[in-house]
Amino acid sequence: MKIISVVGARPNFMKIGPFSEELLQYREQVEHILVHTGQHYDQNMSEDFFNSLKIREPDINLNVGSESHAQQTAQIMQCFEPVCIEHKPDWVVVVGDVNSTLACTLVAVKLGIKVAHIEAGLRSFDRSMPEEINRLVTDALADLLFTPSVDAGDNLLKEGVAPEKIHLVGNIMIDTLVSNLDQALDRLTHKSLGLKEKEFVYITLHRPNNVDNRDSLYAILKQLKRLSEAIPIVFPLHPRTRHRIKEFGWGKLLDSSSNKQKIFFTEPISYYDSICLAANSKLVITDSGGLQEETTYLGVPCLTLRPNTERPITISQGTNKLTDIESIEADIHTILNGRPFKTEVPPLWDGHTAKRIVKKLIEVT
Ligand code: UD1
Repeated sequence: MKIISVVGARPNFMKIGPFSEELLQYREQVEHILVHTGQHYDQNMSEDFFNSLKIREPDINLNVGSESHAQQTAQIMQCFEPVCIEHKPDWVVVVGDVNSTLACTLVAVKLGIKVAHIEAGLRSFDRSMPEEINRLVTDALADLLFTPSVDAGDNLLKEGVAPEKIHLVGNIMIDTLVSNLDQALDRLTHKSLGLKEKEFVYITLHRPNNVDNRDSLYAILKQLKRLSEAIPIVFPLHPRTRHRIKEFGWGKLLDSSSNKQKIFFTEPISYYDSICLAANSKLVITDSGGLQEETTYLGVPCLTLRPNTERPITISQGTNKLTDIESIEADIHTILNGRPFKTEVPPLWDGHTAKRIVKKLIEVT
């Protein structure tokens, strides 16, 4: 059996890591070709994740880089098609919801190659999010849909996906978290910034809806400045966010001497540093999908600066709450001054998801 698996952007790497490692157990039986589309290409957005998570080198890099959505998707398709034609895999395995996920799914199904989607069925019901389009199309086309939670399976059933294609396997990103947590905690990242456990807020923001619009980014930064007067903030900047801050003429903000070290703006950080900061922070504020899940697992309060989430289980069972610029101040106040509340880790977020996925793939082939 031959599998091509695909990664492209930062949130894909921690999902493919455990899958790729599990496949090693079956190396006699399964030939695995790992393709990196090159959607993310900066050292700290890509290579560092491969190194720290010990993911094996991709066999093929398509080197597509950043373009408009149409150009990026089209370029990935153009470059991925010859790879599929040459290698003739039994399965193309895609993860998550980035443009690489969509592009490679389209190529494979048009060549008659079966597609398995890991992290299928998540829905924000907000089609202004590029990821929602990617999720809808990928799931409509995939042959095997591996879901992280019950709600994801329900969404697929409502969309008319045949029940036999859907397999509840749990959250593969939690596999990575479980196996790397101790090493991540050993990093003591907050200490190297002079911060104490539970005495800082960890923030990540990169969604176009938050950072591409001048007014919304201004309002967010204004709130953060106020918050930083009460508690220090660590804010690693995604390249998109850094570009926008500079483009809108606020580059001086990034100079740490001008904000007296209350907001630590940094380059994008490693997986270990991110987990260490999340675990030790008093509160996480984010628009990332992954951090909503990681904070739920870690039991750390999370405010998601978005009108919706495709991961509602992090709200119903976990530590997540949606917020907006009008209510964020009150929400922060409640968390900073409130008592910790009891939450649950969702079923099958147990570190064994990759095992369940590989077993099923082998069984059905
Ligand atoms: C992509 C995913 C998003 C995911 C995010 C995580 C899509 C539609 N979006 O968004 O779901 O949450 O990755 O990081 O696939 N850039 C660099 N260096 C890089 C990569 C990007 O400088 O290594 C800059 C470029 O200016 C680029 C911009 O960031 O234009 C956006 O990159 P892109 O891959 O298009 O989307 P993300 O915003 O990263």
